[in-house]
Amino acid sequence: MQVRDTKPLVGSVVEIDRDDFLSGKYAQEIQELLVQRSALAFPGLFLTDEEQLRFARTIGQVHLVGGDLELQNISMDPTVNRSADYTRGAFFWHIDGANDHAPAKATMLSVRTLPAPGEGGDTLVANTYAAYRALPDDEKKALEGIKVRHSLEASQRLVRPQPTVAEMERYRTYPSQTHPLVWHHRHGETSLLLGATCFYVEGMSIEEGNMLLCRLLEWATQEQFVYRHQWQAGDFLLFDNTGTMHRADEYPLDSKRLMRRTTLEGEEPVS
Ligand SMILES: [Fe+2]
Repeated sequence: MQVRDTKPLVGSVVEIDRDDFLSGKYAQEIQELLVQRSALAFPGLFLTDEEQLRFARTIGQVHLVGGDLELQNISMDPTVNRSADYTRGAFFWHIDGANDHAPAKATMLSVRTLPAPGEGGDTLVANTYAAYRALPDDEKKALEGIKVRHSLEASQRLVRPQPTVAEMERYRTYPSQTHPLVWHHRHGETSLLLGATCFYVEGMSIEEGNMLLCRLLEWATQEQFVYRHQWQAGDFLLFDNTGTMHRADEYPLDSKRLMRRTTLEGEEPVS
């Protein structure tokens, strides 16, 4: 397995023998690398659905979307993605499953259809361990103990700024969660838990809380913390969902861009 870092703080390209990749021979190394590098790109693997799941099971437990789907189409086309409306939230920085007690451990994407040239559609991953580490010590101290409410309503309002009552009621059938802003992980790293699901900061005025969230989001998504994946045929991208945020660069809603996504069950409740 050969690893080439794309930036000092985030992102690596991994060249690996296909059979080794699928067998789990490097499963431990890949999981460690994932925490160190946030995003791992595996070019030219051309994985089938079955192979993607086989690999996924070497590093975790596959999460079933909607109770039954191991693999999900990521597309803005409602004829291939029954949640196309909801998926538009992916244009904004977020953590998968941030409204859950234990957010997804990792997310993986295989490209099936590339966006047309010039359409956009890169995937960006921001390393929030590195962003936390780079904060001044007094700021780290000030953030300790701050809690943020996360909800589907918050992320959906970005794509539906004027929801109907029926839509609001539907958003509220999904769980909301209060998480600490600063997440101390079992492996010893600390990340910032931010993104589109942030609804409000508990115990602060809306104005003060929104400014804090805005300032930290801007901080954590600075160029040095962000890996940008420009998709090529056959690519497979894996990222550590718990110590990052990700988003898709804007692309047209009628684009043919299509990804197959698998997420891994969260293994660590936010503490
Ligand atoms: Fe996502």
